[in-house]
Amino acid sequence: MTGQPLTSPEAPGNRRGLIAALLGMAAAACIVAVLLVLPAARADPYTRQTLELSGSSEHGGRLFRLNCAGCHGIAAQGLVGPNLHGVAARKSPRQLIQQVVSGRTPPMPRFQPEPQAMADLLAYLNGLV
Ligand code: HEC
Repeated sequence: MTGQPLTSPEAPGNRRGLIAALLGMAAAACIVAVLLVLPAARADPYTRQTLELSGSSEHGGRLFRLNCAGCHGIAAQGLVGPNLHGVAARKSPRQLIQQVVSGRTPPMPRFQPEPQAMADLLAYLNGLV
C-alpha cells in the first residue's frame, strides 16, 4: 500500500448540501421579506395613516349627516344609496375608505376627508350594526 491521499466520497456531496441549505435559507428570507413588506405596501399612505388613528363615531355621525345622509338617509337606512347598516361586516376598513375616497361607484362622489375625518366616518360606519 503506497501513500495515495485519501479522497473522501462525502466531500462534494457535502458541499452540494451546503449550497442547497444556503439557497433554501435565501428563499425563506425572501418569502419572509415579501410577507412583511407586501401588506404594508398595499395600503397607500393615506389609508395607513387613517387606520392608525382612532375615530370618534360621534363626529363621524355629524360628518355623515352633512355629507352622506342626502343619499344614504339620515339614519343610514338607505335612499338613493344603499342602507349602510352592517356594512362593516361586508367590507373591510380598507374597502370602506376606498369606497369614500375613490369615486369609483358613481353617483357616489369622490370625497377627500382629512385622515382624522375619515377615521371618524369609519368609526361611525363600524357602529352601524
Ligand atoms: C350622491 C349620492 C351619494 C352620496 C353623497 C354618498 N353616497 Fe355612498 N353610495 C352611493 C351609492 C349610489 C352607492 C352604491 C354604489 C355601488 O355599489 O354601485 C353608495 C355606496 C356606499 C357604500 C358601500 C355600501 C355597500 O353596501 O357596499 C358606502 C360604505 C358608502 N356609500 C358610504 C358613504 C359615505 C360615508 C358617504 C359620505 C362621506 C357617502 N357614501 C356619500 C351614493 C352616495
